[in-house]
Amino acid sequence: MSSTSTQIAPAEGKLGILIPGIGAVATTFMAGVELVKRGLGEPVGSLTQMATIRLGKRTENRTPKIKDFVPLAKLDDIVFGGWDIYEDTAYQAATHARVLEQTMLDQVKAPLSAVKPMKAVFDQEYVKRINGPNVKTGPNKRDLAEQLIADIENFRKTNGCSRLVMIWCGSTEVFHRPAAVHQSMEAFEKGLENNDPDIAPSQVYAYAALKTGTPFANGAPNLTHDVPALLDLARDNNVPVCGKDFKTGQTFMKTLLAPGLKSRMLGVSGWFSTNILGNRDGEVLEDPGSFKTKEETKLSVLDEILQPNLYPALYKDIYHAVRINYYPPRGDSKEGWDNIDIFGWLGYPMQIKIDFLCRDSILAAPLALDLVLFLDLAQRSGMRGIQEWLSFYFKAPMTAPGLYPEHDIFIQLMKLKNRLRHLKGEGLITHLGLEYYD
Ligand SMILES: NC(=O)c1ccc[n+]([C@@H]2O[C@H](COP(=O)([O-])OP(=O)(O)OC[C@H]3O[C@@H](n4cnc5c(N)ncnc54)[C@H](O)[C@@H]3O)[C@@H](O)[C@H]2O)c1
Repeated sequence: MSSTSTQIAPAEGKLGILIPGIGAVATTFMAGVELVKRGLGEPVGSLTQMATIRLGKRTENRTPKIKDFVPLAKLDDIVFGGWDIYEDTAYQAATHARVLEQTMLDQVKAPLSAVKPMKAVFDQEYVKRINGPNVKTGPNKRDLAEQLIADIENFRKTNGCSRLVMIWCGSTEVFHRPAAVHQSMEAFEKGLENNDPDIAPSQVYAYAALKTGTPFANGAPNLTHDVPALLDLARDNNVPVCGKDFKTGQTFMKTLLAPGLKSRMLGVSGWFSTNILGNRDGEVLEDPGSFKTKEETKLSVLDEILQPNLYPALYKDIYHAVRINYYPPRGDSKEGWDNIDIFGWLGYPMQIKIDFLCRDSILAAPLALDLVLFLDLAQRSGMRGIQEWLSFYFKAPMTAPGLYPEHDIFIQLMKLKNRLRHLKGEGLITHLGLEYYD
């Protein structure tokens, strides 16, 4: 069954990508885009650049690339900008992050050096382990928000952008629950005026983005725009948003494996996950407040995939622990170990061990690219509020209130592709095709 296609405005003109947090992920993302633009690298890991999408029946043989099927912004039309508490250009920050080899970085030194971070909105109460000089000052948070809005409009004008997207790649802020100030826009704006301590810096950026009609994605686990005041603002201003926390290393592995174990009705009694990493992110996560924010998103995944309430005999007593240890020698090359205690027929125990020697920012960069391109597509298609079809990219996908998030990566992928088919008026694929015996 096919539906009518949605009116999608063309991707004309420049797309500005504004990033709070010019660290390892952001610079690996920027450098990658600049290298791919020049034919000096391949966008491995990016659905928007590499994946195909099947359309119609299997016999029709229609499998265009996603980028040829929906009108996405071209990499050549992307312009980068952002904020950081340090004054380093993107080239200097990328050199410091040591994710990409210097010879590779030097091939795109000019465009990366041109990205000079604007002064950040920062509060050390929210990120304990770092401090820097490139920070805005002002009488209250409302003034800081207005400064960000001026930065955004200035960037739009100077770079001649027809559209913007903002993606948070800043450090993980300390754990915070939604407070009274987050419940309505009126309370939130009063809180900005009164310098309410419950308004985090990332929330000031999200507010500025939504006020200026800029789609917003959150690559970290912070609460940020996942509160009624900012979600209402997104809907009122017709802005699409998504989050939270890029699904990369260990949680990516978890959401590959757990649905498989569950599909075979195999039990799990324990899942112990531990990591060592030595980048600045690892240093920030040494702080218990920031770790708690991360731990919450990492822990929720298994419960929501395995559904112990529906399968108490298999998953009720699962012991799930996640540890992160800062270990400088490894830099961005993280090592994540999982020990999984499972059981099968008649309760007989077995074990699975995973040792994933991954590169955090290499895994995160293509997700950042896909997210900004899809959010821009969503906005041109008239979509607003939480974009659940982008759950595929997140450890803690945001959902409409009262709904549980979908964590199974294969369901997430089907949802994403069906959303694209729906946008273009193609039939949704349910995998319910005729069987041989029909
Ligand atoms: N790399 C991954 O695989 C991955 C996966 C999931 C989530 N994340 C999250 O993405 C974020 C970025 O990761 P990273 O490895 O690039 O970290 P990073 O430490 O290299 O970069 C973060 C940058 O944010 C800056 N910053 C902090 N607070 C800021 C503020 N208020 N305004 C502007 N800049 C600010 C810091 O100075 C730093 O340069 C982290 O929150 C991390 O937890 C990363």
